[in-house]
Amino acid sequence: MKELLQNIYKRKSVRHYLDEKLSQEEYADVEAYLHKLKPLTPEIHVEFQIVPCSETNCKFNAEYCLLVYSEEGNFWLTNVGYMLEQWDLYLASKGIGVCWYGMGKVEEERQCDLVYAIMLSFGKCSPESFRNGDYDFNRKSVNDFWTGITDIRIGEIARLAPSAVNSQPWRVEQVDNKFNVYRQKGNVPLLSAQLFKRWNKVDMGIFMCFLDVALESEGYTFSRTLGTESDEGKRVLVATYTLETK
Ligand SMILES: Cc1cc2nc3c(=O)[nH]c(=O)nc-3n(C[C@H](O)[C@H](O)[C@H](O)COP(=O)(O)O)c2cc1C
Repeated sequence: MKELLQNIYKRKSVRHYLDEKLSQEEYADVEAYLHKLKPLTPEIHVEFQIVPCSETNCKFNAEYCLLVYSEEGNFWLTNVGYMLEQWDLYLASKGIGVCWYGMGKVEEERQCDLVYAIMLSFGKCSPESFRNGDYDFNRKSVNDFWTGITDIRIGEIARLAPSAVNSQPWRVEQVDNKFNVYRQKGNVPLLSAQLFKRWNKVDMGIFMCFLDVALESEGYTFSRTLGTESDEGKRVLVATYTLETK
């Protein structure tokens, strides 16, 4: 995944699109990339549907929306975040704008054994819609979410991950070459608690995608075990990473 590193400094949520359409080649390319995404949980089946944005409730003027359907299972929403963030980064490298759209709703929530997970708008946009480096990011500092960090470069990349309402629910605790990644529940109004519960699971997959790009780019090999999807408690263990010596 390290080939995605440079795109981390370019990607941005794109909410304004050009009238220009994707060429046939561009469409085929972004469609084909969906089948190259690395899953977090390979046993969970995921499918994609590309529809005109105008046929969805997405309020942006994008040409298309990608609808993501998945089997339900342990970490299914986190897996969706992990996979589709690779796609988000890849499209940035092609100059195609993307925005995760958690407010999306579909008429058919269920398709056979698959359940609707989330949608992402995408389409042609101005080159100015992207970032030009590691500035213009409104994010927590590494020290605000990662204790005991031994290689600050990893945190500096991972912290740039996007999240629903920029909530950045990730927390990391490191001791030597091992670190735990947690999902921290925020104090959100009761009405939106259900939505955040869902979105923040996607966010954790996005964060782990950034983390893996960072670790691979800096030459680390590592193993990861997933924790629990439990909704109990304020802080939930999502994964434990063990870094091999460099
Ligand atoms: C799971 C998820 C859901 C999101 N849902 C929406 C949405 O419904 N509407 C919207 O305008 N932005 C949405 N966003 C975009 C975030 O607001 C955005 O990623 C965050 O503010 C950081 O900004 P950036 O992506 O430009 O770096 C969503 C992002 C994520 C990861």
